[in-house]
Amino acid sequence: MTNGANNRGFWGSRMGFILAASGSAVGLGNIWKFPYIVGQNGGGAFVLVYLACIALVGLPIMLSEFTLGRKTGLNPVGAFQTLRPNTPWVGIGFMGVFAGFLILSFYGVVGGWTLAYVVNSITQSVSHFSSSQEAGQFFGNFITNTWEVLFYHTLFMGLCMAIVIRGVHGGIEKACNILMPALVVMLLLLMVRSLTLPGAMEGVRFYLYPDFSKITPQVVLLAMGQAFFSLSLGMGAMITYGSYLSARENLTSATLYVVLFDTLIALLMGMVIFPAVFAVGLEPTEGPSLVFNVLPTVFSNMPFGAGVSVLFFALLAIAAITSGISLLEAVVAYFIDQRGWTRKQAVLVMGSVIYLLGVPSGLSFGVLADFKLMGMTFFDVVDNVASNYLLPLGGMLTAIFVGWVWGTREAHREIERYETKFHWGAYWEFVLRYVAPVAVALVFLAKFFPE
Ligand code: PFF
Repeated sequence: MTNGANNRGFWGSRMGFILAASGSAVGLGNIWKFPYIVGQNGGGAFVLVYLACIALVGLPIMLSEFTLGRKTGLNPVGAFQTLRPNTPWVGIGFMGVFAGFLILSFYGVVGGWTLAYVVNSITQSVSHFSSSQEAGQFFGNFITNTWEVLFYHTLFMGLCMAIVIRGVHGGIEKACNILMPALVVMLLLLMVRSLTLPGAMEGVRFYLYPDFSKITPQVVLLAMGQAFFSLSLGMGAMITYGSYLSARENLTSATLYVVLFDTLIALLMGMVIFPAVFAVGLEPTEGPSLVFNVLPTVFSNMPFGAGVSVLFFALLAIAAITSGISLLEAVVAYFIDQRGWTRKQAVLVMGSVIYLLGVPSGLSFGVLADFKLMGMTFFDVVDNVASNYLLPLGGMLTAIFVGWVWGTREAHREIERYETKFHWGAYWEFVLRYVAPVAVALVFLAKFFPE
């Protein structure tokens, strides 16, 4: 069965697909997570490892996921089931749906924080701080406030569910059309502000100067996990989005656009945050609160800061929503395609279950802060398991599946079905078959057997 044999809906246009896939990729991973992991893992050296992971592992796997999706026209489970029926390979699909489940549970919490900051920006509560300590205190009070956190978490999940209920074309695609260009303009503007703050250069040095002594197996694992997370890979979200592609798309250029765009946004965000971190006297190692403490301090010290703050957090919230819906869509598509549920049923039931699973993550910074599993909060455990293990594992198995089992020849044929020539086919084949699986395996080995 190939794409087109079903009534699941398609993207409205070629640009629509690229924007929606970029909408999935660009999100909290680029703007909230990337800066804080770079900050915690030594700056420039981490950035280089991250870029290597994008080129050697992320890029080939993204094209593979799009290809699997377009070929089968199905969700992650259905895709593997169609190509190799009743074999263990279908397990990759299940693992992906499960990873989507876990990721959205904590993603919804942080998405809620961004909505709270939109409201706080409108009421001008986060653009008049006299110091970064004051901004930190404000954020601390917010994330320890159970009801407020739950309220915004609920709102975020409700919004994602409302959009996904309307389906791909009506909901998802439209939401992405305005966001992407607006986000780039916003980040460029903020970058100029950050770079012109006194003391900014120290941050630029931290961000761009690689100190290779900082690279350990753990750092490489985190960089790789971040590459998967940021590109929405390893769990079938891009298989799902590819399944709504009408057959004439050029998959290879779509892959390049999405990867370049996602990487550009993350790199730009680093140039916004690090100069500012050093200029306002904060530590880059602060963790999940980094962006929420640094930026309001910057907004408090710039002309039109209150307005800029509203715009920035609104864009961040939208970026989070366009990623959240792709996480939910991957889970929901499985229940629609494979289990025969209606879209509404799937969204309401699965959305609610994911929401409930997110509650302990939401409280991990407040009443559940002392509840630790393996020394980590519930939030950190879910993030760590999904982002650093399930996604790379899913990605590695996808690479092996497309590279060796389904085979690059078949995949190549699907890619070239409507394209004249796949220019970087040889590179793709090589990194997909050899580099990507071996790289992921080595990183796991180095992590578990450090000697
Ligand atoms: N790529 C998204 C981000 O960077 O925020 C997060 C994400 C979305 C991860 C979809 C995985 C996924 F399947």
